[in-house]
Amino acid sequence: MPNLPDLPRDNDPLPATHPSDETLKLLALRRSTLARDMCEPGPSTDEINGLIRLAARVPDHGKLGPWRFVIFEGDARARFGEVIAQAFQKAEPGADEERIQFERDRLTRAPKVICVISKVIPHPKAPEWEQILCAGAACQTMLIAANAMGYAAQWITEWYAYDANVGAALDLEGGERVAGFIYLGTANSELTERRRADPVTRISRY
Ligand SMILES: Cc1cc2nc3c(=O)[nH]c(=O)nc-3n(C[C@H](O)[C@H](O)[C@H](O)COP(=O)(O)O)c2cc1C
Repeated sequence: MPNLPDLPRDNDPLPATHPSDETLKLLALRRSTLARDMCEPGPSTDEINGLIRLAARVPDHGKLGPWRFVIFEGDARARFGEVIAQAFQKAEPGADEERIQFERDRLTRAPKVICVISKVIPHPKAPEWEQILCAGAACQTMLIAANAMGYAAQWITEWYAYDANVGAALDLEGGERVAGFIYLGTANSELTERRRADPVTRISRY
């Protein structure tokens, strides 16, 4: 398993570039593994802390840290699954037990889950939009870092990222929204490339 280098402290000198064939290869070949195709092991508690510290190094206008992270390990996944199941039953009172169990099992699909919460902090120079983008960047950084550590990852919202009762269980305050649940584990299926939007059709020159 690759080692996480020591992270720099304030004002440590740093290189401007990091030429790396491995990084380019990761970016060119990266794919998400579906949460349902994940098995043990997931990242250890130390590795989870490392992932969060790497995700927190994204560009951040105003140095606000406009995000927070909720870690789900072990039994916490089933406890939160119960929250999801209850929220689902409130929204869909007629749902049958099989479907409710499906909702209850959401987080236990993967060994570890990290919820990234976008936390907009009023600031004169860093608009809300930029702070939300920053939380998205933290999610993507986590995916890349997880793959580099040797773990499969998927960024998921599904319906429960937007449910008020689930949000209450995450203690969402004003200005906070779920940016995503990052599911983490070991891939137990082969991946193939998916169809992608052609960037060429979306490029113009000014
Ligand atoms: C904000 C966001 C939310 C997403 N939510 C879901 C989701 O709820 N369910 C899902 O199957 N994929 C979701 N995806 C897509 C997957 O994360 C992933 O991109 C896709 O499965 C495969 O793309 P990839 O292999 O290029 O990463 C979401 C992506 C983003 C950026």
